[in-house]
Parts: sequence; C-alpha cells; structure tokens
Amino acid sequence: MKQVDLLIHNARQLVTSASDKGPKRGLAMRDAGVIENGAIAIDGESIAAVGETHVIRAAFSARREIDAHDLVVLPGFVDPHTHLVFAGSRVNEFEMRLEGASYLEILANGGGIISTTRATRGATPADLMAVARRNLERMSVLGATAVEIKTGYGLDLETEIKMLEVIAQLDLDVPLTIVPTFMPAHAVPPEFRGRTDDYVEVIVNRMLPAAADWYRRSHFAKVGRPCFVDVFCEREAFSLDQSRRVLEVAKSLGFALKAHVDQFTNLGGVAMAVQLGATSIDHLDTITSDEQSVIAASTTVAVATPAATFHAGGRQFTDVRGLIDAGAALALTTDFNPGSSPCLSIPLVMAIACRYCRLTPAEALNAVTLNAAYAVGMGHRLGSIEVGKQADLLVSDLDDYRVLAYEMGGNPIRTVIRSGEVVRRYD
Ligand code: NIG
Ligand code: FE
Repeated sequence: MKQVDLLIHNARQLVTSASDKGPKRGLAMRDAGVIENGAIAIDGESIAAVGETHVIRAAFSARREIDAHDLVVLPGFVDPHTHLVFAGSRVNEFEMRLEGASYLEILANGGGIISTTRATRGATPADLMAVARRNLERMSVLGATAVEIKTGYGLDLETEIKMLEVIAQLDLDVPLTIVPTFMPAHAVPPEFRGRTDDYVEVIVNRMLPAAADWYRRSHFAKVGRPCFVDVFCEREAFSLDQSRRVLEVAKSLGFALKAHVDQFTNLGGVAMAVQLGATSIDHLDTITSDEQSVIAASTTVAVATPAATFHAGGRQFTDVRGLIDAGAALALTTDFNPGSSPCLSIPLVMAIACRYCRLTPAEALNAVTLNAAYAVGMGHRLGSIEVGKQADLLVSDLDDYRVLAYEMGGNPIRTVIRSGEVVRRYD
C-alpha cells in the first residue's frame, strides 16, 4: 500500500472536470466528470490518484484524511480575467450609471478607468497590496484557487511596473496561483488625450520591452508561469490597427496574448486576435455568428464576462450558447474590477450565466475550471482533478454540484485546498 500525504474520501460527488484532450468543447462541456462516492490521493503538491473510494482506499494510506461524507468535492475555481490591483473607489459612478450615464460616456469624461488610474498612480505598493490582498482573500473564500491579474491602471511605465511588482508579490504572499498580464493599452492616459497613436508608440517602444525585461527577471519566468499582454480594442480606447500593433510587438517579445474585444462595439477584433494566436479573447458581448465560427476553429479560448453585463443592467449578454454550439472552448470570469464588474464570486457568475446565457450547470462548471485554466495558459497544471495536476480542490456543503449554479449569492465552500495544503476550513 502506498503512503501519501492526504486522502479525501467518501465524497457524495467528486466532480473532476477531467479531459484528456485540452479544453472542453461542444457536448463534452455537458459532462462535469462526476464520480459517485469518490476519493483523491494527494502527494505533496500534486494529485496521485482519483477514483471510487473503495479503490483508492485499497491502494493508499495517508498521513491525513478528510472524510467528505455527504459533501461534494470540486476543482478549485480559476478566474481567468481580473483587474484586481487598484486604488480608490468608483461607487459614485455606480450611482451615475443608475441615473443613465453610460460606461463609455463616463470614460470619455475622464472617469472610469482614468479615475482609477489617478488613484493608482498616487498609491504606494503597500496601499495597493492591502486592497488586493483583501479582495483575493474574499475570492479564495468563494473558491478561487488561481486568478489572473492585469495591470492597466498605471498607463505610464513607472506605475505599470509598480503594478507588475505588486502582482508578483501577491503570488508569493497569498495561497492562490497568480497569472500576470501586462495591459498598458487599457485606456489612453490624460497626458496623451487625442494622441492615441503617440501613446501606442510609447507602449511598443518603451513599455513592452521594459515589461519583457521585468518578466525575464521575475520568479514567474523561473517557475514557467506565462505572462500575457492584453489590449482593450474598443471605441474610446484602442482601434483595431492600434490593438494589432500592440499585440504584434508583444508577440515578438515572447508574451502570450489576450484581448478585450466586442464589449460594447464590434471593431473586428476577433479575427485579428485569433490570427495572432491569442490564448483568449474576452467579453465578446457583440460577437457575430461568423466570428463565433472563427474562434471555434482556433485554439483561442472565448472568455465571457456575464457579471459585467449584469452589473451594467445590460440585456446583451455574450451569446455563450452560440459559442459552445459552434464548438468554441468557452470560459467564464468575474472580470473583477472597480468599475464594470465589482464581483468577486465565481458561483454568482455561474448563476448569472445559467440564467441569462442558458448554460447548464455542468457547462458553467467546466467554464470556471478546466477551460478557465486553458484561458490563462495553465490547462496542463490547473483546472481539473486529474492525476499529476496541482491539488487545488474545494470541499463544498452541497448535495449535488448543480446547486452551485442554482443557488444565488450563497457560499457553500467549506474547505479550500491549494497545492495539497488546506488553506481554509470552515466546520
Ligand atoms: O474588462 N473593459 C475594459 N476593462 C475592464 C473595465 C475596467 C474598469 O472599468 O476599470 C473590463 O470590463
Ligand atoms: Fe477586463
């Protein structure tokens, strides 16, 4: 009998999200990979075995055991798109929007991303860390074990690098896996107002090379964690050509790519980002059916942001049903940020997606686990309960995993395990 560090057994349902063929697509999205009365053997940071309890117990003994009798065990959630490092508050803009102002109007008038940029430029790294830690803690309580975090509230070299430093420190300090994204092309800063092309030149000539140097020296490069460059391809932000220029240079410097596309306005960003081999394309509220087929035929993951649409009181949710039916690999995210999506809860995102985008609970679960891991280039290591993967698991107080998307605004997560370590436990 082999000895391992941790054995979780007797789970009423062990939901694996397992797939041996990359991200899930089409009908495979409807299979959450449930093992009844399941067990997991964990050795060190990784999963050593997965199966029915009687089989795993016959093969392994453990230094520590968790009896998940009557409980549901799930993969830790992967949140593939957040703007979690920032200073200041935009709750006043929430009120403006309730009175009828639009997101792009507020941005055009120096609010929105620009107001967060003012506050972030004035904040110390310690200020930024304090807010970010508190928000990551809340995400972790709600089941996130891996989170992508973007820069993009600096919009000058010094502050953008300050944000990268904070993101790297968070990865070292908090019990979550953090994936970094550099996003100086998030908005046009006030000092370049009306001169977007000039700002793009600064991005490609100075900021991207400096970020590439930073990444090479960072611990992320040493542990093989990817670093992304992202761009906001939108009216009031960056045109299709400007977005392409930023992503092309980023690619030539070795970055993996992401793009904010079709949030409000369809500028044709899908074909551009797919052609450049983007790992993910995010938002997609205004995607056409032809573009759905373009993503479906590629390896790019489509990341929908239903909490942002919900927060805007919007009715045009991403056609997630169309994307899945076309064969695209679909992931979901909170898009957590202080303006368009103040949402820290992956279970709430699932609940919204099922109701407004007509996803099944299994599709929503695969979209926040395995497919979300692929959206951040980590599908080989995170996102499912499979042998060899990092042991990131949740023990939840559910009697059926589908209740995760059925309930609204609750938190059934009891125990969070990250890299084989119990990081939270509520009995
Ligand atoms: O993904 N759309 C651009 N970026 C963010 C919003 C950031 C903000 O409003 O501060 C988003 O929704
Ligand atoms: Fe975003």
